[in-house]
Amino acid sequence: MAAAEAALRDGSGGSEAAGPAMKPWRGARRAALGLALLLLLAPPARAVEPISLGLAIAGAAASALTGIISYPRLYCYFRECCLQRHEQRVAAALQESLDRRLFGQHLVSKVVVRAVRGFLSNAQAKKPLALSLHGWTGTGKNFVSKIIAESIYKRGLKSNYVHQFVATLHFPHAHSINLYKDQLQSWIRGNVSICPRSIFIFDEMDKMHAGLIDAIKPFLDYYELLDGVSYRQAIFIFLSNAGAEKITEVALDFWRNGKEREDIQLTDMQNALSVSVFNNRNSGFWHSTLIDRNLIDYFVPFLPLEYKHVKMCVRVEIESRGYAVDEDILTRVADEMTYFPREERIYSDKGCKTVDAKLDYYYDL
Ligand SMILES: Nc1ncnc2c1ncn2[C@@H]1O[C@H](COP(=O)(O)OP(=O)(O)OP(=O)(O)O)[C@@H](O)[C@H]1O
Ligand SMILES: [Mg+2]
Repeated sequence: MAAAEAALRDGSGGSEAAGPAMKPWRGARRAALGLALLLLLAPPARAVEPISLGLAIAGAAASALTGIISYPRLYCYFRECCLQRHEQRVAAALQESLDRRLFGQHLVSKVVVRAVRGFLSNAQAKKPLALSLHGWTGTGKNFVSKIIAESIYKRGLKSNYVHQFVATLHFPHAHSINLYKDQLQSWIRGNVSICPRSIFIFDEMDKMHAGLIDAIKPFLDYYELLDGVSYRQAIFIFLSNAGAEKITEVALDFWRNGKEREDIQLTDMQNALSVSVFNNRNSGFWHSTLIDRNLIDYFVPFLPLEYKHVKMCVRVEIESRGYAVDEDILTRVADEMTYFPREERIYSDKGCKTVDAKLDYYYDL
């Protein structure tokens, strides 16, 4: 069993071209063929001792069973494995899911798919992947981290290899920082030892104690091994609202100049973002060495959502509850959200965040 998982980890689990459901039967077919040959080639029944024949059949059956059970993909079908999917499949699933489910975030889709695909297909990665997701509330940061997790592990956030930390929940007391540091480091070390392709999601980075961020730093660095463990296959995702004002400023500039939102380029955002995050004392990155040592690979900017995106979120939410879409309710819910700046009313100040609560009101009537 352990060998099966190890085979998957080092990529010797075979290509997926034939489809995962087909492959386990190959071992079985081979063993069954062996059994048929054995019976065909065997001398006439009376010349064979019944005990030997019985043993031969039992042996062939056991070998068929072993063939099936030891096939990594079948094992991983019943029990979760560290890195279940081939990188091309991960990238395709990620792209499809973001295209279909994420609204108004063209930069996010582009950066995230490229980053994850590139990282997973690089067997010689020199450091773990570190993504930093920034933006206004309710614009999809947690949603995207969930989609990334689901594209790599079928069980997504529930996977044994995906770990989510929320600063205010898991590390609430500044005076316990040293304890948290030790716990966090041994948690990361322990889990990466079990599964090198572990995913760690840190939410509310802007509320995270700077000392704690520095405690994560060694894991993100270019070390080959730290105490015998390599972190080079792990994925770290940081979420925060830091830099949201800067992102909104750039988006608003585009809007005021009559330019399309989709024409905003990554370069319009990235430098401004890293500087504004770094200089903001409350961003959680403050005096952290993550940025100045280039340990963050990608800053991913989430644009503030517009009225039309809110409507899209409302539609999805109504459909997911199994109701027929009532355009009147849909418009009323989107209209109830508040938009900023005050004069132009372009961006939803809670993004899509309170949409489901507002719908409860209409559907409970
Ligand atoms: N861009 C989007 N496209 C589609 N749905 C979205 C988008 N943004 C948010 N949503 C919906 O709104 C919900 C809340 O968003 P999410 O929790 O991801 O926001 P967030 O960016 O993490 O906000 P916060 O900064 O307040 O934590 C999501 O679960 C999703 O259903
Ligand atoms: Mg969030």
